[in-house]
Amino acid sequence: MLILLFLPLAYAFWRMDCGNVQTGRIDPILSPGQIASHVHKISGPNIGLSSTYDDLISAPCTSCEIQDDKSAYWTPKLYYAHPSGFEEVIDNGMTIYYMGRGFNRTNIVPFPPGFRMVSGNNSARTYSSDRTWAGDGLDFSGSCPNYTCTSGNFTPGNTIPSRPIADASTFKCVGGNATETPNLQYLDCPGGLRTQLQFPSCWDGVNLYKPDQSHVAHMSEIDNGFCPPSHPIQFVHLFFEVTYQVNSIANQDGHFVFSNGDTTGYGFHGDFLNGWNMTTQTAALKNCANTDNGGLIQACPPLMLSRTAQSSFNCPEQPPLIDEQVHGTLTALPGCNAGTSCSPTPAPRINPTSSSPQTTFLPQSDQTYNNWVYLGNTQDLQGNRVLQGASTVNNHMTNELCQKYCSDRGFPLAGLEFSRECYCGSDVSASFTDSWEFSMVCGGNHTQFCGGRNLISIWKSTIPPVRRTIPSAVGETLGNLQYLGCAVDIVSNRTLPSANYADNSMTIESCGSFCAASGFPLAGMEYSRECWCGNNVGSFESSSCTMACYGDDIEMCGGPNALSVWQVQGSTS
Ligand SMILES: *[C@@H]1O[C@H](CO)[C@@H](O)[C@H](O)[C@H]1NC(C)=O
Ligand SMILES: *[C@@H]1O[C@H](CO)[C@@H](O)[C@H](O)[C@H]1NC(C)=O
Ligand SMILES: *[C@@H]1O[C@H](CO)[C@@H](O)[C@H](O)[C@H]1NC(C)=O
Ligand SMILES: *[C@@H]1O[C@H](CO)[C@@H](O)[C@H](O)[C@H]1NC(C)=O
Ligand SMILES: *[C@@H]1O[C@H](CO)[C@@H](O)[C@H](O)[C@H]1NC(C)=O
Ligand SMILES: *[C@@H]1O[C@H](CO)[C@@H](O)[C@H](O)[C@H]1NC(C)=O
Ligand SMILES: *[C@@H]1O[C@H](CO)[C@@H](O)[C@H](O)[C@H]1NC(C)=O
Repeated sequence: MLILLFLPLAYAFWRMDCGNVQTGRIDPILSPGQIASHVHKISGPNIGLSSTYDDLISAPCTSCEIQDDKSAYWTPKLYYAHPSGFEEVIDNGMTIYYMGRGFNRTNIVPFPPGFRMVSGNNSARTYSSDRTWAGDGLDFSGSCPNYTCTSGNFTPGNTIPSRPIADASTFKCVGGNATETPNLQYLDCPGGLRTQLQFPSCWDGVNLYKPDQSHVAHMSEIDNGFCPPSHPIQFVHLFFEVTYQVNSIANQDGHFVFSNGDTTGYGFHGDFLNGWNMTTQTAALKNCANTDNGGLIQACPPLMLSRTAQSSFNCPEQPPLIDEQVHGTLTALPGCNAGTSCSPTPAPRINPTSSSPQTTFLPQSDQTYNNWVYLGNTQDLQGNRVLQGASTVNNHMTNELCQKYCSDRGFPLAGLEFSRECYCGSDVSASFTDSWEFSMVCGGNHTQFCGGRNLISIWKSTIPPVRRTIPSAVGETLGNLQYLGCAVDIVSNRTLPSANYADNSMTIESCGSFCAASGFPLAGMEYSRECWCGNNVGSFESSSCTMACYGDDIEMCGGPNALSVWQVQGSTS
C-alpha cells in the first residue's frame, strides 16, 4: 500500500471493494455531455455522460460495497498493444480507501454535494519535479504536531517539507520484488500490476469544482502533512488501487498502453464524483475516520447499515453506454489515441438501452405481468428447496428467461434467486413477503430483481405450461447457439475431433459454452453425456438424435453414433 513516512500513530481508514459497472468513453467531470477522449473503467453507480449529484444518489445500485455511497470512481483502462491489435488487460474493479490523515485530521469535513476532482495528469509523459506547497515558519500556536515532531523533521518555525506531486501516482508489481515506481517499469507481476493513486485532501472551501483543479491541493506530504493556507479545509484522504492482471497477456509481443495512449504511466489519473448520502458520510467521518479499525467496514456502524458484500454481483457491469468496442481485442484504441494506424471514425452512437439512472421494477404480490402472477419473496435454503423441479444458473438471468425455462419444462412455478439462479416447481407452500430489502438485481436486466441470498422470488403462470423438446426443428436457436442437424459420428473417425469432454450434467448450453470457450464454431452432443467440438461437418444424415441430455431431459443430446450439431453464433465454420 502506501509508503508511510511517519508512523508514530495508528492511522484510521476504511476500505471498500468495488466492481466495474461501466466501461467506455465517459467522463462527466472533464467532458460533460460529450464522448470523452479515452476509455475509462468506472466503479459505483452506472453513470451517464452528464451525471450530477442528484442523478447519482437516485441510482438503483452501486458496484461498491457501501450502498449509501453512490459516488462514481474511475481510471483509464489498460490494453496491450500487439502488432495485430490492442488486447484488453483485465482487472478486478478497484479498492477505495478513505483515510484519516494530515495534521488537521480531527477537523475533517465531508465532501459536499456536487463536489468532484481529478488526481494525476492525463497529459504527462515524463516525471515532473513540481512539488507540493512548502510552508515556512507557520505558527501552530506553539503546539508541535506530534507526527512530525516524533519523526524529527519538524519543529515549530521550521519549513514544512514538500514532495513531488508526481509521487501521487505509483505502480507496484504484486508478487515480485520490484519497488514502487512512478511509471510503468516492472511488468512481470504474478499478482498483477497495482496502480495507486492519492487524491488532494485540501479544499479552498468555496468551489465545488474548477477545471484546472485549483479548488483542491495536495497535503504537503501528499499522503499526510499540512494543508496550504490557500486550501485550509481538510478532507478525508482518498486513495484508489486498481490491479491490472498484466500477466494474463500470454503473448507479450508488444507493449502495455493505457486507453489515453500513455505507454509511460506518468499520465495515469483518476476521478471522483461525490455521490454520498450526506448523513451517512458525515456519521462515518465522525465515527470511523479517526478510529483505527484495521480498515474494516464491519467496524463502522454508519457504513455497515448499507453494506452489501455482493455489490459487484448485485450491480454488475452494465451494457456499454457508448456503442463501440472496449473489451476483447480492438483494432484501434477508441478516440484514436495510440497509433499511426488509426483513422478517425465517426462519433459512435449513444446506446439508448443503457441510460442512467435506471428505474427499478418492483412487482407487488398478486400483480400480473405477461401471463405470470407474482407470488412474493420467501426464504429458500440449500438442501431444502422451496421449488424442487428443474433448475439452471445463468449470469444473464432475467424474470422472462426463468419463466420461459420453467414453462418449457412443464412447470407452472418459476423462482429467481441470488441474481442468477432459476428454480422450477409444480406447487409451493410457503409464507411470502413483499419486502425487497435484501434482494439483488437480475444479472441480465438491472431494472428487475432476482431474489437474494437464500431468498427466492416466485412467479406462477396463469396459463397451463406446455412441455416441449429442444430442438424441435433445424434452424432453432437457444441462446447464442443455432441447431444445424443430426450428423453421423464413428469412433474410428470423429466428425468433431478437436476437443471433447463427457459428464452427467451435460446440456446443449454447457457443451456450447465449452466449444465456444475452446475456440470452435461447432458443438455436438452425443449419447446423452458427450460433448464434441470442431470446425466443420460434411452432412447431416443421421436420424438417431433421440436421446435426452443427461443434465436436462427436455433437451436432446444426440444418440448412438449420432451428434446433435449446433453452431456458435457469431462464429463462422
Ligand atoms: C500536465 O502535464 C503537461 C505535459 O507535461 C504539462 O504541460 C502541464 O502543465 C501539466 N499540468 C499540470 C496541472 O501540472
Ligand atoms: C502528542 O504527544 C504527547 C507526548 O507524547 C501526548 O501527551 C499527546 O497526547 C499527543 N497529542 C495528540 C493530539 O496526540
Ligand atoms: C525475490 O527475491 C528473493 C530473495 O532475494 C529471490 O529468491 C526471488 O527469486 C526473487 N523473486 C523474483 C520474482 O525476482
Ligand atoms: C483545520 O481544518 C478546519 C476545517 O477543515 C479549518 O477550518 C482550519 O483552518 C484548519 N486548520 C489549519 C491550521 O489548517
Ligand atoms: C441517507 O441515509 C440515512 C441513514 O441511513 C437514511 O435515513 C436517509 O434516508 C438517507 N437519505 C437519502 C436521501 O437516501
Ligand atoms: C428489463 O426489465 C424491464 C422491467 O421489467 C422491462 O421493461 C425491460 O424491457 C427489460 N429490458 C430488457 C432489455 O429486456
Ligand atoms: C474421415 O472422415 C472424413 C470426412 O468424412 C473423410 O474425408 C476422411 O477420408 C475419413 N478418414 C478416414 C481415415 O476414414
